[in-house]
Amino acid sequence: MQLAWLNGEWTPLEAARISPLDRGFLFGDGVYEVIPVYRRRLFAFGPHLERLKHSLGATGIANPHTDEEWRRLCETLIERHPWDDQFIYLQVTRGVQPKRDHLPDDCLVPTVFAYTSELKPVDEAILKKGIRCITAEDIRWQRCDIKAITLLPNVMLKMQARAAGADDAILIRNGLVSEGTASNVMIVEGDRLSTPPLDHALLGGITRQILLQVAREAGLEVREEAITEKRLAQADEIWLTSSTKEALPVVVLNGEPVGTGIPGPIWQRLRQAFHAAREQWMEQNHE
Ligand code: PDD
Repeated sequence: MQLAWLNGEWTPLEAARISPLDRGFLFGDGVYEVIPVYRRRLFAFGPHLERLKHSLGATGIANPHTDEEWRRLCETLIERHPWDDQFIYLQVTRGVQPKRDHLPDDCLVPTVFAYTSELKPVDEAILKKGIRCITAEDIRWQRCDIKAITLLPNVMLKMQARAAGADDAILIRNGLVSEGTASNVMIVEGDRLSTPPLDHALLGGITRQILLQVAREAGLEVREEAITEKRLAQADEIWLTSSTKEALPVVVLNGEPVGTGIPGPIWQRLRQAFHAAREQWMEQNHE
């Protein structure tokens, strides 16, 4: 049975209930995290916790737990579920407020919701074939560095991609690539790997951070710099990166082949290097 942790209590996931007056429900007033687990161990927990604290701090939502409590909660979730590989979802909203008001009351008690699911490897067929993307105008807000639960634009953009016969959308703001609807974007040009620099336009992806390090160690030239839509269209390889999908190769962009139209050699190489680095990380229990 899948369990959820809701405000200090364990409950079957299907039985978990929140008040409709929760500000998360009424205003999307909350933040979240998604943390991968491999072989029953948290991966890169430290950076994920730091990002959660960044999201809480930036939104002024009280952090309801100490670092150790967060870790304990995640470890208990892992222990209570059978899967070796999991992804933990943590959500903190500003809490329940009896009277609907955009302005939050002082001293609200944050709502904490956490559960875990099986993390299945990405389908081999998808890895072989790659995915198709469109570019779309980034219609989101200007604080995409915050992992906010307010994901309506991301949902609409994903639907827009599907309506166009694609798997996902790569978002463009003022002519520059920001990120995917739930991922960061990397491009390969020759031996060079580039990704947009961290700022308020995109989420500081943990997979992004680790992959950049792995790429540097593998001897690739790595650049964190603005990428124009034109450069994106001419790239040899395009990848979407996230905790649940690792790096996905994009083989078609707006109906045109990316590079040779199949998952590229640098992606193949870096994917292996990423797995090796992750294994090493897990062995050293390095966080
Ligand atoms: N999303 N950018 C956005 C907008 C994201 O939603 C995500 C991850 C990322 C990649 O971050 P990371 O590498 O830390 O997973 C970038 C998660 C997986 C989700 O919403 O389910």
